[in-house]
Amino acid sequence: MRALTWQGKRKVSVETVPDPTMTQPDDVIIEVTSTAICGSDLHLYEVLVPFMDEGDIIGHETMGKVVDAGPDAHLSIGDRVVVPFIISCGTCWMCRRGLTTQCETTQVREYGSGAALYGYSRLYGSVPGGQAEYLRVPHANTNPIAVGSELTDHRYLFLSDILPTAWQGVRYAGVGAGDSLAVYGLGPVGQFAARIGIHLGAQVFAVDPVPERRALAARYGVHAFELTDDVNDRIRDLTEGRGPDAVVDAVGMEAHGSPLGKLAHQATGLLPDPAARKLMATAGTDRLAALHASIDLVRRGGTVSLSGVYGGQASPLPMLTLFDKQVQLRMGQCNVTEWIDDLLPLVEDPLDPLGTDDLVTHRLPLSEAPSAYEMFQQKSDGCVKVVLDPRPRRSESAL
Ligand SMILES: NC(=O)c1ccc[n+]([C@@H]2O[C@H](COP(=O)([O-])OP(=O)(O)OC[C@H]3O[C@@H](n4cnc5c(N)ncnc54)[C@H](O)[C@@H]3O)[C@@H](O)[C@H]2O)c1
Ligand SMILES: [Zn+2]
Ligand SMILES: [Zn+2]
Repeated sequence: MRALTWQGKRKVSVETVPDPTMTQPDDVIIEVTSTAICGSDLHLYEVLVPFMDEGDIIGHETMGKVVDAGPDAHLSIGDRVVVPFIISCGTCWMCRRGLTTQCETTQVREYGSGAALYGYSRLYGSVPGGQAEYLRVPHANTNPIAVGSELTDHRYLFLSDILPTAWQGVRYAGVGAGDSLAVYGLGPVGQFAARIGIHLGAQVFAVDPVPERRALAARYGVHAFELTDDVNDRIRDLTEGRGPDAVVDAVGMEAHGSPLGKLAHQATGLLPDPAARKLMATAGTDRLAALHASIDLVRRGGTVSLSGVYGGQASPLPMLTLFDKQVQLRMGQCNVTEWIDDLLPLVEDPLDPLGTDDLVTHRLPLSEAPSAYEMFQQKSDGCVKVVLDPRPRRSESAL
């Protein structure tokens, strides 16, 4: 089959690789009909280089049709499924408590990591990812989300990651009707977080340096601000001087405006892999501008909720401010399956209240994935979300 493979820092290529095969009785193989590029893939593209191996198949936002099913899979050939990016068993102590990100069956203990993820480096199990024609889906008795056949892929695809991620971010932020929420970052995750805030009745402010991303958010009633030195003061002015009740950081460790972290990221890119892995495990390599801004902005006694991914082990935090302001911090990978009952009715609602149909700026054949990665990272050509199509001619009519 054809698949997108990681080849080195900022280098991915589409190669012919062996088709996946089933190894467990609860596996299925799906033919991929849509697979998106995520902001998290950009961390592999640039920062998580020391944990990648040449030829790794990447991608973790995937849906498709079952073409082979093991006897214990609880799915049949022809079923249409969305695949959560977290690989979890659904039955262990953690999964039974809704913490599928900490699944005790798939935890990658060698690296001290939580549940395995598709296409996400040695840290998360080096599991082949979904930016490919076919994908092996383990734990298919509990993990994949079976969906109907009427609506387009774009309605359902984001249940694999960014929609539940944004939902969890806003839920952890604890805001509802009449509250105020700020969202740092208006990439795909931030767009959904802001829209969800509005949907739940909150007043939503957002910050992003990219004008067309601000314009898209504004269409949903979000007060979107440019990233300027005084942006937090401007938002405080609109919240009676206190700051919003909660802030979702939807930027993560590659924030613009973090010169020290940028140097550390460059250093990890220059060192040989074992030394770089050690540096990332012991030093503060994150670019923390958005996290610091979120902590500064949130009102006293409010909540900062991190959807953006952080990876350095010794990143300095302003403990004085956090403690004095009595800030609550919540974070983590998304426990995808936990939120599907809330989200499925929203994506299937004919009014499409969260605008799933309004996020994809580029649908491209898998063969164009390398230039699509570059475009998404550069945020050029108005790019907000790219969906790759491994079989463009076959699936065109379905979308
Ligand atoms: N927790 C999870 O399970 C989970 C799941 C998916 C994605 N993520 C993470 O969420 C983050 C966002 O993902 P995305 O797909 O939206 O990616 P993205 O890279 O498109 O979005 C980041 C946005 O932040 C903006 N930005 C950069 N620096 C900023 C700053 N200092 N202040 C304000 N805005 C700034 C960028 O312009 C961009 O629009 C990433 O860190 C990604 O890894 C986490
Ligand atoms: Zn993702
Ligand atoms: Zn489990």
